[in-house]
Amino acid sequence: MKYATRLLVTYLFFSILSFSIIIISVNKAIDYYSFVTIEKQMIEKADISELSFREILTRYETETEKVKPDELAQAVLEVLKASGVEVRIYDSNSKLIGSAKNGIIVNNGSPKIYKGNIKNALKGNYSYLVTDNKLIYFAIPVQDKYYQNVYVFEIVENISYYYDIMHKVRTVLLTGAGGFIVLITLSSLYIARKTTKPIKYLLGATEKFSKQQFEPVKLNRKDELGMLAEGLNQMGIKLNSYIQYQKQFVSNVSHELKTPLAAIRGFSQYLNEGDNEDKELKKIYSHLLHESDRLTKLIDELLILSRFDKASDLKTEKEDLSELTYKVVRSLQPKADMGELIIETDLRSGVMAEVNPVLMTHAVSNILDNAIKYSNTGGHIRVEAYIKEEIDHSLNMAVIKIRDQGIGIHQDELALVQERFYRAGNSITTKGSGLGLSLCKEIIEKFNGRLNLESEFGVGTTVTILLPLA
Ligand SMILES: Nc1ncnc2c1ncn2[C@@H]1O[C@H](COP(=O)(O)OP(=O)(O)OP(=O)(O)O)[C@@H](O)[C@H]1O
Ligand SMILES: [Mg+2]
Repeated sequence: MKYATRLLVTYLFFSILSFSIIIISVNKAIDYYSFVTIEKQMIEKADISELSFREILTRYETETEKVKPDELAQAVLEVLKASGVEVRIYDSNSKLIGSAKNGIIVNNGSPKIYKGNIKNALKGNYSYLVTDNKLIYFAIPVQDKYYQNVYVFEIVENISYYYDIMHKVRTVLLTGAGGFIVLITLSSLYIARKTTKPIKYLLGATEKFSKQQFEPVKLNRKDELGMLAEGLNQMGIKLNSYIQYQKQFVSNVSHELKTPLAAIRGFSQYLNEGDNEDKELKKIYSHLLHESDRLTKLIDELLILSRFDKASDLKTEKEDLSELTYKVVRSLQPKADMGELIIETDLRSGVMAEVNPVLMTHAVSNILDNAIKYSNTGGHIRVEAYIKEEIDHSLNMAVIKIRDQGIGIHQDELALVQERFYRAGNSITTKGSGLGLSLCKEIIEKFNGRLNLESEFGVGTTVTILLPLA
């Protein structure tokens, strides 16, 4: 997951989590406090009703010897019939003894009675319940002169208005939450972009460093990222000067070695070609010549490399790559024959590219030389030159592909073999300096092309050169 995405996801996760907790708590708080208010209102109403009820009851108790419940209920209802949407009176056996609906006394009918609610009230406490159709049944115990809970006065109220308000509050809350989440997402996106922009810039700088392009890294900030940019800058300067020093050193040494090496080679050739009866000496002279040839090749390659490092204006011309490749194949044919290798060619016409022919020949020879060197006796090598067509024809590429059935390169060494002086584990038995491929890569990149290396250990290697079509 990208850093910006991770930042965004984390930020969003925690924002939404905290916001959800807030919403749930607010919702619960509204629920709780609204109900507390309803309860308080009902208790106030209940207290007034109970007072009136007891007044009437006391009057009855003093006037008559035995209170007739029906009469009492009637009298109470006359006074309290409008206390709620519905008003009911129960005796101590939870039996309904009178009721009124919408302010009118009802003498018949058998409404649904919530016995539990009445029984609770008869124990001496307020008791209430809310039905599914949003009605609250609030039961109040009424005591006689002996402080016995002998009657229950029940007020029924419609509290659907409260649920409507709750619903509206919730809608407002959720709409707000939606807007908040959109805002949070946008601001997280903005913050993630803003934070990762300098990081991306630094990443780009390190990528350029790895290609040895040391451009100054500038970030106008005084924080850790600014310090990192400054650190990278210093590192780039030091690395660049070190690389320049190393290149200069190699170039100087190569120049110094060139003349004495030419002398050594000349003398060894003279000795090798001279008449000599001693077989041992002849072997030594031949070895001397062979080794000085190898050293001369190495010095030549090193000099090409150092010329590369210095010269920015390299002479190029439009070259037929098929023709150039054909010449290389011809020149290396004897070496292939020695290893009993068959070189198949498929070289198409019109494969043109803007290159320096000497350097390009050197690059293709190096790759074919590797294919021959790292092939087993009797193997096949396929050399192709063709045009790779792209959807956008202006990007068509000239391709040279050399495929062998040789010993192959391990995957973890594929990138390393393109470095200067690196020789893979497979090359112990063959001679070389490890410069060939790195030189090819630099030559091809100089002509704005690229080198592609594919290989499977024990199966073979394919090297592809891609150059802009001229
Ligand atoms: N076609 C190939 N098949 C198998 N291994 C290869 C092939 N081409 C290159 N290699 C590996 O990559 C390494 C680097 O190749 P490179 O051409 O740079 O050096 P070299 O062949 O060892 O020496 P020279 O400088 O003489 O070319 C080789 O040592 C070899 O291990
Ligand atoms: Mg080589």
